Amino acid sequence: MNDFKDKTVYQVYVKSFCDSNGDGIGDIKGVTEKLDYLSGLGVDFLWLNPVFISPQNDGGYDVADYVNIEPMFGTMDDLDELIEKADEKGLGIMLDMVFNHTSTQHEWFQKALAGDPEYQDYYIFKDGDPDTPPTNWVSKFGGNAWEYVPKLGKWYLHLFDKTQADLNWENPKVREELKNVIRFWKKKGVKGFRFDVVNLISKPEVYENDDRGDGRRFYTDGPKIHEYLHELVHDTGIKDMITVGEMSSTTLDNCIGYSNPDNEELSMVFNFHHLKVDYKNGDKWQLQEPDLKQLNDLIRTWQLGMQENNGWNAVFWCNHDQPRVVSRLGDDGKYWKESAKMLATFVHMLRGTPYVYQGEELGMPNAHFDDIDSYRDVESKNYYQILLDEGKTKQEALEILGERSRDNARTPMQWDDGANAGFTTGEPWISVPKIKPEANTIAEAEDPDSITAYYKKLIALRKELPVIAGGTISFPESDDSDLMIYERSDDNDKLYIVNNLTDKEKSVKIPEDFVNAEVLIGNYEDFKPEAEAALRPYEAVVLHKKN
Ligand code: GLC
Ligand code: CA
Repeated sequence: MNDFKDKTVYQVYVKSFCDSNGDGIGDIKGVTEKLDYLSGLGVDFLWLNPVFISPQNDGGYDVADYVNIEPMFGTMDDLDELIEKADEKGLGIMLDMVFNHTSTQHEWFQKALAGDPEYQDYYIFKDGDPDTPPTNWVSKFGGNAWEYVPKLGKWYLHLFDKTQADLNWENPKVREELKNVIRFWKKKGVKGFRFDVVNLISKPEVYENDDRGDGRRFYTDGPKIHEYLHELVHDTGIKDMITVGEMSSTTLDNCIGYSNPDNEELSMVFNFHHLKVDYKNGDKWQLQEPDLKQLNDLIRTWQLGMQENNGWNAVFWCNHDQPRVVSRLGDDGKYWKESAKMLATFVHMLRGTPYVYQGEELGMPNAHFDDIDSYRDVESKNYYQILLDEGKTKQEALEILGERSRDNARTPMQWDDGANAGFTTGEPWISVPKIKPEANTIAEAEDPDSITAYYKKLIALRKELPVIAGGTISFPESDDSDLMIYERSDDNDKLYIVNNLTDKEKSVKIPEDFVNAEVLIGNYEDFKPEAEAALRPYEAVVLHKKN
């Protein structure tokens, strides 16, 4: 079931990738135009963020029709063309299935609102008093997770925006409808699927207040989640396709279950624990310096735990919901190139299938917006207000958004250093970052030492040296969390990977076996693999020996 170990997935946030018609919004034709660039990177799959009919209250994660294309992104013919042309270049298209909820504009929800009990059972409606929501659960975008519909005298559940109503997976008709969506796209020739917040679909039998939190413990990795996933995959015959689940606040045990081939669920999973090491008290909206000890411990625990139980990770730093990693864990100033390459090495040498998010291969930085009007994201706008209500000044609130907003990842792909970074000839729907115009595809193609050139090498190495895709991973004893060190090994080869996570010079003990070993790849010239080796700021090095 897992033939995806030597593959690399590239994520395309269509809205910000390439605008083919000058309306300021990226579109499907824009992706087709850039297929040469994408295949030149050496990646195998393109995961497209949702391009389905949607009022775009949440960037397309509010789907109003799963089997038709949103006009701002193009037409079904455009998508057919993309699937075909991508295929010719050996690139498989993966679509994003948002099955936890639909837009309230979806026909099913509209019928429910009109009073049809059959469709009300597609969602989670509860009778109740207009002043008291059924539970105290909190929406992931802030505020209570229930919305009252006066003319029905009922509340409906929305774990995200109030225009994203949660589906009732208990209802077999809902499950059948969603299977038909998969069947439809499978027939179109797509090669895989990403499942949005899919570990939230199984809700508890009883809805009760959460006295110890925001309600997530009742529905995260819920009671029937494994059953539902197995059924969806089995009944649609997609077990041999690439499938990845986005797992919100999940556990290692559940992720083993989701991705162990014996269970016939998914081929791999995203978890986000390593991207919370800079959340103070686990709260995204409170800043702290990244806790490198915690990062080390989490990587080790998840890598070893998945390996021991035949699970498989999707490994990544960036996506359309995360701030840019070079600004977050690296340095988008002095050590821009070095830190971007180190972070790439860190992820691409782990055990798992790597995902590259558009612009990551350029070292694109955070947006560095300094006024609230530059922001577009519903979550950012909601939390800006919540932070002000909590007593933060505008300046403080903007500083937090500057670090945490999802819009940091959603600025236009930087094709060149001209107007709007070559993304559009019109007015872009969101502006280009204030810094790093040099993070663009033209400049990086000309520079053999660019961040893009380095990503290409990493992606190619995965196919050349099987130990990267299939070797076991182990972690030597180390008490220095400033360094991320691990070893990969198979019958033929072994690798020793050292990453300096800091802007300080560090020294590292190289095990005897690897002293004077070949440097497979590294982000500085002339690393000397001596017993006591010196690392420069953000240095990454991969040492290689025959086994
Ligand atoms: C996932 C998506 C995110 C979206 C949310 C609700 O986390 O990645 O962009 O807002 O689900 O669908
Ligand atoms: Ca367009």
